[in-house]
Amino acid sequence: MWCRILSSSFFLRLRSPNVAAFKSAALAGVFAVLLFSVPGVAAQHTPLTEQQVDARVNALLGQMTLEEKIGQLAQLPGMAFGPGAVKPEEHLRKGEGGSVLWLNETAKINQLQRVAIEQSRLHIPVLFGLDVIHGYRTIFPVPLATAASWDPSLVEQAQTIAAREASAAGIRWTFGPMVDIARDPRWGRIVEGAGEDPFLGAAMARAQVRGFQGPYVGSPEHVLACAKHFAGYGAPDGGRDIDSAYIPEELLRNVYLLPFHAAVEAGVGSFMSAYMDLNDVPATGNRFLLHDVLRGEWGFRGFVVSDAFSVQGLIPHGFARDPQDAAYRALTAGLNMDMASGIFLQNLGPLVKQGRISPAQIDEGVRPILATKIRLGLFEQPYVDESRVEQVLNAPEHRQFARTAAQRSMVLLRNENQLLPLDKKVSSIAVIGPLADSKQDTEGSWAVMGQPSDAVTVLEGIRNKLGPGVRIEYAKGPEIKRDIPSFFDVFRPGPKAPPQTPAEAEDAFNKAVDAARRADVAVMVLGELANMSGEGASRSSVDLPGRQQQVLEAVVATGKPVVLVLINGRPLNLAWAAEHVPAILEAWYPGTEGGNAVANILFGDANPGGKLPVTWPRSVGQIPIYYAHNLTHQPETSRGFVSRYWDGLSSPLYPFGFGLSYTKFAFSNLQLNQTQVRVGQKLDVAVDVENTGSRAGDEVVQLYIHQQAGSASRPVRELKGFQRITLAPGERKTLHFSLGKEELSFWSPQAKKWVEEPENFDLWVGADSTATLHTTFKVNP
Ligand code: BGC
Repeated sequence: MWCRILSSSFFLRLRSPNVAAFKSAALAGVFAVLLFSVPGVAAQHTPLTEQQVDARVNALLGQMTLEEKIGQLAQLPGMAFGPGAVKPEEHLRKGEGGSVLWLNETAKINQLQRVAIEQSRLHIPVLFGLDVIHGYRTIFPVPLATAASWDPSLVEQAQTIAAREASAAGIRWTFGPMVDIARDPRWGRIVEGAGEDPFLGAAMARAQVRGFQGPYVGSPEHVLACAKHFAGYGAPDGGRDIDSAYIPEELLRNVYLLPFHAAVEAGVGSFMSAYMDLNDVPATGNRFLLHDVLRGEWGFRGFVVSDAFSVQGLIPHGFARDPQDAAYRALTAGLNMDMASGIFLQNLGPLVKQGRISPAQIDEGVRPILATKIRLGLFEQPYVDESRVEQVLNAPEHRQFARTAAQRSMVLLRNENQLLPLDKKVSSIAVIGPLADSKQDTEGSWAVMGQPSDAVTVLEGIRNKLGPGVRIEYAKGPEIKRDIPSFFDVFRPGPKAPPQTPAEAEDAFNKAVDAARRADVAVMVLGELANMSGEGASRSSVDLPGRQQQVLEAVVATGKPVVLVLINGRPLNLAWAAEHVPAILEAWYPGTEGGNAVANILFGDANPGGKLPVTWPRSVGQIPIYYAHNLTHQPETSRGFVSRYWDGLSSPLYPFGFGLSYTKFAFSNLQLNQTQVRVGQKLDVAVDVENTGSRAGDEVVQLYIHQQAGSASRPVRELKGFQRITLAPGERKTLHFSLGKEELSFWSPQAKKWVEEPENFDLWVGADSTATLHTTFKVNP
């Protein structure tokens, strides 16, 4: 009985205000069992028609009791808690549990499935879900990094591989993509999304949905995707994870909702409601979001799961009076499935008996869940083939692609006097920093199924590249750690070495500087530990943590050439480095093959072509800062008003879309097929791009527009097109972009609807959001 679980330590911890602590304990239980010795069998069927699915859902609903229906609305944690707690199998036997999460052991997945199929009355299979965010076993760069590739086909391919591995291991549903727009790098979960821009974010959302799900829900070797966290989670006050978000409707619709809408258009099968309250109404009980927008306006036909314990969370939120009220509000707002809290199992039955919720409302909640299971082919193929797992997870082509993905995601921020690429014939290198040889931190956060031992660190990558002929000296320098520990630290495997004493840290500092003195060049690998970004990992500062800045300054003071490689998941304060360190490479958390990818770039076997998906602030005081801000009554450049601050510039350190290459590109010949169009008509934009340097390289050609006047102020620039291209030295290409109603419309706060207004527009094409190649066009009524 669920109530027995609830009376166990499970419930006591759940009710404590520290849900995070509960979750960490729960996850620790799950992931203590780390091995998945078995692969999965992919669905092998063609998509069913709506009518076929409806007929099967109706037939099933006709046989189900109220309890069995409510059972489908519950997602169970895949483990039991505390002595006397009821195990998931006891629920599944009774048809109580539509889904199970936080389970990664294939044999256990099969075993639980067998209980549901063979021992429950109606044999309805379980849908197993897990956070497969940037890879399952093969870990790709974090999502912020792959967004920096500006290459949707790469992102699609990475998630296709992640889906292949996850489905082989028995996972049929991933809680991704996270499509929250984030404009505040203090927010730890900025690492899980595509950054600040809705156009880029929508492209990445579509690519991830296609990658996870394949051409249709139920495609072989794919998984169900889940667009999260609906909606506004990326805009918490002060960047503090799960704090309230206040987003006016125009900003919500023009920015924050766009990637979610794109996910729906790409056919995403599920949504997850967010933790925080949006404009005072918690997202999990927010009918405007879950019902009016998602289903009413967008016609979404899948199902919505809550974030973990967030139905229960409506009570501490000060929204619901008690568990029954919480269940009532969530279900009637449009939520289908309760993640992990058990609150639907306990309370929906009584609510139906009291007549507050009708049987039809329960049916409405269950329908899309059953329909999804049917589409996924779960009824036909509920089990996975345990003999395939290792082979699929260890496919060499997956690792190979992880390296490509990492290379294409890295962003070269500075390269004075062409310090990079380095000469492979260098005689000695110092590799310095707390992240230079940390496997776990190379993989980044949410690498739950990644095996740190698989990861190649930057130090290892450089060693692999240069071989024994070059003297490579490694110095870790002073360690870094979070001031307040992370509730995910239980996942940091391996023996925990005792932290450095102050004397050891001092010694490590000196050794780092000495190593630089002895070397021809110093590669400093600095940034943040994996647990410094992600969930529950917001910061009030964006400085390099610990003593890294001091070490950096001391190493630069040796006069040796210094390359700074950043391993991190958010913009950090690089104001000093941007002036004093000749070469800076943003490698993000690059994943399993990260070190080899960094080495390829440092030594010129790959040419960096990534671009920033976020504006890079000069200081924490500038946050939030994003390129698509509105104009003011007084242009920044007029009458010397270059800054709104008297103690610093308003401009960012690096603009959105910025990134260097080892070659150079020139843009010319910007042409429109017509300079006036009518509302609804399309416009063709052509531009020539030429590689004017001496190496092959990639450029991300970006197109921005600005509507000069209208029913509302429009952003100074908005991204409306991009293409990543590769050009040989001297090669020139003409690129075409199309602008139509979709690109030229916005949600007007005055008209309260989407409008395309007959106005004058600016248009720029170039290498980042400060592009200067400019023209104008006019939209006529
Ligand atoms: C996170 C979600 C995640 C869920 C399941 C929550 O704490 O906010 O992003 O999908 O846990 O692990």
